Amino acid sequence: MTTAGIILAAGKGMRMKSNVAKPLHKVCGMTLVGHTVRIMRMAGIDEINVVVSTDLAESSELNEALPTDVQVAIQTEQLGTADAMISAKSSVLGHDSIVVAPADMVLVTADTVREMVELHSNSGAFATVLGAKVDDPAGLGRIKIDRDGSTERIVEEHECDDDLLASKLINTAWYCFSNDWVWSALDSIEPATETAEVYLPRVVESAHQVGRSQAVVSQNKETGMGVNDRVQLANVESVLKQRINDLHMTNGVSLQDPASTYIDVDVEIGYDTSIAAGSHIEIGTRIGRGVEIGPGTRITASEIGDGAVVDGARVQDSVVGAGAFVGSNALLRGGADIRNGAKVGNLSEIKNSVIGTGSIVSHFSYIGDATVGKNVNIGAGTVTCNYDGRDKHPTVIEDDALIGSSTMLVAPVKIGKAAKTGAGSVVRTDVVAGDTVAGVPAKSIKS
Ligand code: UD1
Ligand code: CA
Repeated sequence: MTTAGIILAAGKGMRMKSNVAKPLHKVCGMTLVGHTVRIMRMAGIDEINVVVSTDLAESSELNEALPTDVQVAIQTEQLGTADAMISAKSSVLGHDSIVVAPADMVLVTADTVREMVELHSNSGAFATVLGAKVDDPAGLGRIKIDRDGSTERIVEEHECDDDLLASKLINTAWYCFSNDWVWSALDSIEPATETAEVYLPRVVESAHQVGRSQAVVSQNKETGMGVNDRVQLANVESVLKQRINDLHMTNGVSLQDPASTYIDVDVEIGYDTSIAAGSHIEIGTRIGRGVEIGPGTRITASEIGDGAVVDGARVQDSVVGAGAFVGSNALLRGGADIRNGAKVGNLSEIKNSVIGTGSIVSHFSYIGDATVGKNVNIGAGTVTCNYDGRDKHPTVIEDDALIGSSTMLVAPVKIGKAAKTGAGSVVRTDVVAGDTVAGVPAKSIKS
């Protein structure tokens, strides 16, 4: 049994009131279409096609949102969900069944999708629809069950009679279809009179006529929560956020205040790590074991080693080694690499630099494009003057050097092993190992 996936993401998403296409809006750090791909992948569906509009197909944002092995099909005119599915036909021939999903129902879990696919293949159904019981069905299609309990059809809200309007059994728009049956069924769907769109859910009726339709109904109310506007976007995000937080806590991570802790999807965190209130741990981040994250920290696409402390800092695209310390209001960015046991203190900014093992930059300094060796002490207010108005230049500080407070290191420049600079010196030329320099411009004072 092989299953392919088709994600319908070519709709206009008018209710978002946005220049950004709805599938590219994000929750918990990932686009809606990205979440949908992720759910399918976790359900074991490898081959995935995403149907998008011509505009979206040409946008670089779509490329960024999709793994490279996901195929893109184009729906040139938004003629409805059935037409959208047909746009991906040529890419999925040869599979036994096809899972179809919208790009805006991202609280469906991979387990539920798996269940749907299994039930589909075991029952011999042509069309299996994932339904959900919800509190508020407004705007959603209702699943009509006939007298003998089989799934008769799906009725869009604007077509519902009063009985169906009152029904809380809705169509999530996740389906599983038999590949050798569905395409001719799709071809026979007539456009809806009111909207002129061809509605994909209509195929359920054709399957029912031959006794091959069924619904899998999720008992989880969240399954039916979609994203059509920004209020729903926020509601979905808050459910997802809670699921993510619960998972980390179950895995041994302490969250001081889960309500104010924002952890993106797929972040990895080791056990015995604690995260204080108001922290944001963003996509692409890996945090080790026994790490202490202080209040109001924000970490993006970074790696934090075991036993490190990051206390109220901003860490972007950087690495913090095991046992290292990063203090309040420090900013690490652009590939900062803070080695094991090093210390970056209050208000320091480190960009594209290595801070070697055991070295310290304790107070308000700027270190950019620098390679700092081991056990170096950088005094308060030190600046690597790395930019001359045109180009960036490197600074090298070798092991055991002592940089006096408020030293200006005018790059390119190198401070040799165990050399020292006096407070307030402006260093324009290389300092040899073991030398001590001071003044403006700095000169050797050792002799
Ligand atoms: C759809 C279902 C409805 C279900 C609901 C659940 C139809 C007709 N109705 O309604 O029964 O309860 O989803 O979320 O399918 N799309 C295209 N091309 C188009 C139109 C839509 O790719 O021409 C895509 C959209 O980008 C979206 C998905 O299909 O990802 C669903 O479209 P949307 O307009 O959100 O449908 P709903 O009105 O929510
Ligand atoms: Ca929708």
